[in-house]
Amino acid sequence: MPEVQFVVVAACVLAGSGSAWAGGDVQRGQQAYEARCGGCHSVEADRIGPRHAGIVGRRAGSVAGFAYSEALRKSGITWDAALLDRWLTDPEALVPGQRMGYRLGDAQVRADIVAYLSTLGPVPR
Ligand code: HEC
Repeated sequence: MPEVQFVVVAACVLAGSGSAWAGGDVQRGQQAYEARCGGCHSVEADRIGPRHAGIVGRRAGSVAGFAYSEALRKSGITWDAALLDRWLTDPEALVPGQRMGYRLGDAQVRADIVAYLSTLGPVPR
């Protein structure tokens, strides 16, 4: 019953421990981010994918000047830890028509990366 587990995890995060996503390790997440996402993304600059500074709390598809898919731009999503986890699991399931050709099946690595992403403050534009 993945839905139930998901709700429990989300509740724990709401209940609690600051910026860390449930069970995620920020340092491991940073390494995994560099290894797995770094080919397309960086924190401060747009590459094949948009920059990630301030991603938690940011509206999806909203970095000015980045050529997003129409699907992501119009998704109406504001990124939080739970949505980032779903996006990394299967972007196409969350936002049909999006253009990120990458999926991350390992739940622990996802949790680590989301914990790391949650630490990124905005970069002044
Ligand atoms: C093959 C290149 C590629 C890889 C690898 C990749 N991404 Fe992406 N990512 C993209 C593209 C392209 C988009 C824009 C998608 C769109 O416009 O539909 C995107 C969009 C995103 C967004 C939405 C950003 C926004 O401004 O709304 C997030 C969050 C994201 N990626 C996280 C990650 C993370 C975390 C990883 C590593 C686990 C990763 N991506 C790996 C190409 C990639």
